[in-house]
Parts: sequence; structure tokens; C-alpha cells
Amino acid sequence: MLNRIHSLGGYFHEYQKSVSDPEGFWADIAETFFWRKKWDKVLNWNFDEPKIEWFVNGKLNITENIFERHLFTHADQAAIIWESNNPNEDSRILTYQELYEKVNQFANTLKTHGVKKGDRIAIYLPMVPEASIAMLACAKIGAVHSVVFAGFSAQSLADRINDAQVKLVITADGSYRGAKSFGLKSIVDEAVEKCSCVEKIIVLKRTGESTNMIEKRDIWWHDAIQNESTVCKAELMDSEDMLFILYTSGSTGKPKGVVHTTAGYMVYTQYTFQNVFQYNQGDIYWCSADVGWVTGHSYIVYGPLLAGATVVMFEGVPTYPHTGRFWEIIDKHKVTHFYTAPTAIRALQAYGLEPVKPYKLDSLKVLGTVGEPINAEAWHWYHTHIGKSKCPIVDTWWQTETGGMMISPLAGITPTKPAYATLPLPGIQPMIVDSEGKELTGNAVEGNLCIKFPWPSILRTTYGDHERCRQTYFSTYKGLYFTGDGVKRDEDGYYRILGRVDDVINVSGHRLGTAEVENAINEHPLVNESAVVGFPHDIKGQGIYAFVVLERDASTHDPEKMRDSVNITVNKVIGAIARPDKILFCTALPKTRSGKIMRRILRKIAEGDVSNLGDITTLLNPEVVEEIKKAAGF
Ligand code: WTA
Repeated sequence: MLNRIHSLGGYFHEYQKSVSDPEGFWADIAETFFWRKKWDKVLNWNFDEPKIEWFVNGKLNITENIFERHLFTHADQAAIIWESNNPNEDSRILTYQELYEKVNQFANTLKTHGVKKGDRIAIYLPMVPEASIAMLACAKIGAVHSVVFAGFSAQSLADRINDAQVKLVITADGSYRGAKSFGLKSIVDEAVEKCSCVEKIIVLKRTGESTNMIEKRDIWWHDAIQNESTVCKAELMDSEDMLFILYTSGSTGKPKGVVHTTAGYMVYTQYTFQNVFQYNQGDIYWCSADVGWVTGHSYIVYGPLLAGATVVMFEGVPTYPHTGRFWEIIDKHKVTHFYTAPTAIRALQAYGLEPVKPYKLDSLKVLGTVGEPINAEAWHWYHTHIGKSKCPIVDTWWQTETGGMMISPLAGITPTKPAYATLPLPGIQPMIVDSEGKELTGNAVEGNLCIKFPWPSILRTTYGDHERCRQTYFSTYKGLYFTGDGVKRDEDGYYRILGRVDDVINVSGHRLGTAEVENAINEHPLVNESAVVGFPHDIKGQGIYAFVVLERDASTHDPEKMRDSVNITVNKVIGAIARPDKILFCTALPKTRSGKIMRRILRKIAEGDVSNLGDITTLLNPEVVEEIKKAAGF
């Protein structure tokens, strides 16, 4: 059994050990896993290149740690309880034994279709158990999965496929979301027109909509698995062999492929899952994220399944067919642990208490949040009306790049404070620095959040471009991993995450680079240039505010129609999640004499705080500030 923390004293003891002897600390935990060959050395690292290796020369397969390690005790226990978008469709329950066989069968299928260790596979699926099966089948044979959220556009998918040189794509005919269904295969078809690397597409039948199957390239999932054995030998993987790539937005350029490797990610996701949630056998855990995001990877698939947990997976949306659907699912499946995003809480809170009242919610023991800062009001609502004032809330701060939770309470152990992620988990050494990189010591300070020592699931590189990884995360402050987040530490040493300090915005818990949204808007033929900033949004946390300069001959167009048309372009280039909430047309953007857009001013206008815009005399065109203020209603 994995190290478990049971008390606050236990936490401080473990934390101390993890800092004074990190290698001994993680080795003890890693010992509880199933290795084909033990490591020679626990850790090699420097943050300058960066080069980080955990459990050096260890040999293992992560799926053997999910299945073989547990099958004697857990074979008949539910691994996945799947809840359909449609409440009238039966739930599906897969035991560990059944999941094991399905993973093996699909792993054999991938091999039959030419997939080998190290090949990259794109997964573009709705929230169905086959998404987990596909990921684990890749891991079983050493293929590297790149899951792409099925709300991304064909162009975004094509960019990700090309960047990783994906050989095979796994998708479905379509997906259900609330009252609507969407074609997915048609999006994949459009994407792969631009991707000569793709050889095969495996298509799961989900909605039954007709799709154009191209001979030799496209195969139905159910046909492909038909003659495959349910026995499959796991590939022997090195600790540092790549497990997956997951694309995420940064402040510049296109999304980058964050790379996670096998052993460190495995050890860290299970350790954090068990200790943060205080999961016990028999508990029913539900994380409402999508497998297309890191939360889905680490805390729907790997962490909980490594821990032998029972995981609820939900295909639909919180408001269909009614706004009490989340609460209905909690009662139906007797969920004990519920993990969701603040944006979902705020959206459901807005419907009042009527949709909550019909449900008992008495199975709940622990609540969690992730993805963005949770405001105190939403925290209290969640605590009082969902947790009935008896369930601890774990506000977990972490990132795609960190692979697992970093700063978080341990459920029922760490005293919580609304809006605070509280204390670093064992193994995590945060450091707050000022803009020059000087450490701000002591408590009650505010600055930029860095981490000074590696933990097992830190990203290793950005796929195909190591220099970009170095520059983005390890060059801002020498010798430190820079998170991109601002943070405050209070008198008790508790951490409160303040949000991004770079040009990344967090919309409904989804990360978007402002440059990425601007590039999408600029693809509109009538747009000359644009600037995108975030602004506070009651439900989404942050909304997207776009200042757009049209081509000269377009300024006579009807602004409403132009807005729709810009939205359609963003939809096409990125997907609906990046659609601006507000679009303001202006004749120019405020720029410095060297031609840089003064975002600070636009941010203030977007936030509605125009009383003090600071010094604008250095601008090339100070007069546009007045024009923009007026257009924005000030
Ligand atoms: C933000 C999601 C405040 C933060 C797991 C981070 C949070 C970014 C929290 C990473 C939290 C995540 N409180 N902010 N509990 N959790 N964030 O990569 O700005 O999608 O840098 O990973 O989300 O987003 P990502």
C-alpha cells in the first residue's frame, strides 16, 4: 500500500522528509509499484538545460501497475461507471477485469494496424469509456497518445497531428452534448486532408450518423477488434520513455506539446490522488473534467485507476436535460468524491437552489475544484449546499506541465480557507519571487510563483522543440521552474493563486493564449489587426475581450454581422471555447512608439477600470484611447 497521510502532523512529517531527502522520500513511494527492473538512481536533474530524469533505468509498464498489480484483489470491482449524455440510456459498468481485457484487445488492434512503440496516436473522442481504453491501449504497447479535446476545430486538430507526426487517429462518428449531436469523423476527415502523416483512422460508432469511410484508411472500432485476442503482453518501457503529449496554450505562438514520461508521472499521480482525496476502497470518485485536458488524464484515467479506484465518467453537460443533472448523477451512483471546476459551480449556482433540492447528496464525503481560482462566494455555496457543510473542499492548484496537483489541502486533514489552495504537497518546493527573480521570503508576500526542485511528474520537454521548453519555463528565473501564475502567501504560509501573470487567459478553466486568439481573429479577411485581453466574468472566471481593427473598406459593414462573422472564424480556427465574449471595433490599437500594443491600457478598459490608465503620453497614438473608451461605453 502506498504511503498515506492521516493527520496534519503526518503531513508536516512527510513534507519535511520530502524536502530533506527527496530521493529517499520518492524511492520509498516508488517501491510500492510493480517494476520489471528497479531503477539505478532516483534522480538526475538540472533546470538549466533542462534535463530531468526520475527512477533512472527503471523498466516497467504503467498499465501493469493498473491491472496486474491489482487484479487479484480488484478484478470484479467497477473501474469505470459510465453515465450517458442521455439519462434514459443505461449506464455502463466496466470491472477491472473487463477493462483489462478491452485494453488488451484494443492494444492488439493497434498493433495489427501497424502501431509500434514510440509512434504517436491522436485520440479525438467523446467522453466514453473507449477514450480511457484507447489511452491505456497506447500505454500498453508503448505508443504515445496525444488526446485532443473533441471541441477543437479541424484546423487545431490538424496542427496538433502534424506537430506530433501522428500515424493513426482514433475518433467516433459523432458525439452527444446536451440536446445536440455533432459529427466528429467529419472534422477528422477535414483535418487529415492537411496531414500526410496519418495512415489509419479507427472510428467508434456512437451517434450512428452516416460517415464517409475511406477504404484502406478508415476502420470501424467494432470491426477492428473483432478477431483480436484479449491477451496482450505489455511493452517494456524505460522510466523516461514518453507516455503522452498534451497540447496546451502559452503566451506566444501555437500550443505546445507538453511531454510526460512514464515512471515519474505514474508515481506522482497515484500518490497525489490517494493523499489529496483520501480515497478509500469502496468509495466512488467522479471527476467531471474531459479526458481532453490534463485533469482528465491524471485524475480520470491514470491516478485513480493506478489507485484501484472506481471512477464515474460522464458524457454530457451539467444542464441537460435539466440543471440538476450533476446532483442527480451523484445520488444515482452514490458518489463519495466529486471533483469539478469553479466555472461549473458558478454556472449551477446561478440557477438557485431549486435544482439542488430534489437530491439528497448524502453519499458525498469530499469535494474538489481545479482549473482556476475559486471565489469565496462559489466556495461557500459549494460547501453549504452541495457538501451540506460536512465535506472538506480540496482546491487543487496545478498545471498541464506539472502533471499532478501541486498545492492543495489534503481532504479532511489540512484546515481550509476559501479561495486558498493552502499548502504545497509533499515533494513540492514553491518559491515566490519578485519581477527581478529575488526570492520573497517569510510569510505575507505576493509575487510570481516558481518551483525550485523537481517533482516526479514535471514536464520533460515540449515535443520537437526542447529550446521552447527551456525558454518558456526555465529561463525567466535562473534555476527555477516558472509557473506563469501570480501568488500570495498569507501569515499562515497558505498560498492563494491570483491568476496568470503572462498573456494567458483562463476561460471557464480552459487555458488560452491571447496571441492564439488574436491569430485566429486575424485570419478573418476583413480584419487588419486585433488585441485580446481577459476581463472578469461572473461565470467563466475570465471572459475574452477582443479589440479589432477592420480593413479600411470593411468599416461600413454592419457591426453585428461583423461580430458574428469574426466569431465564425474563431470557431473554425480554434473552436467554440475561444469565441470572444466581447468584440469592440476601433480604428487603431494604442501602440508605443516602437509599435508594441499597450495591452495594459486595453486590459484596464476591458476590466471597466478607466479612472487611471497610467501614462499614455508615450503612445504613438494617444487619441485612440479616448475613441476606444467611448466605444466601450465610458
Ligand atoms: C490555473 C489545469 C487557481 C492556473 C489543471 C494554472 C488554478 C492554470 C487552479 C493551469 C486553482 C489551475 N486555483 N488557479 N486551484 N488550478 N489553475 O494547464 O492559472 O489547464 O497556471 O491545468 O490554471 O491550467 P491547465
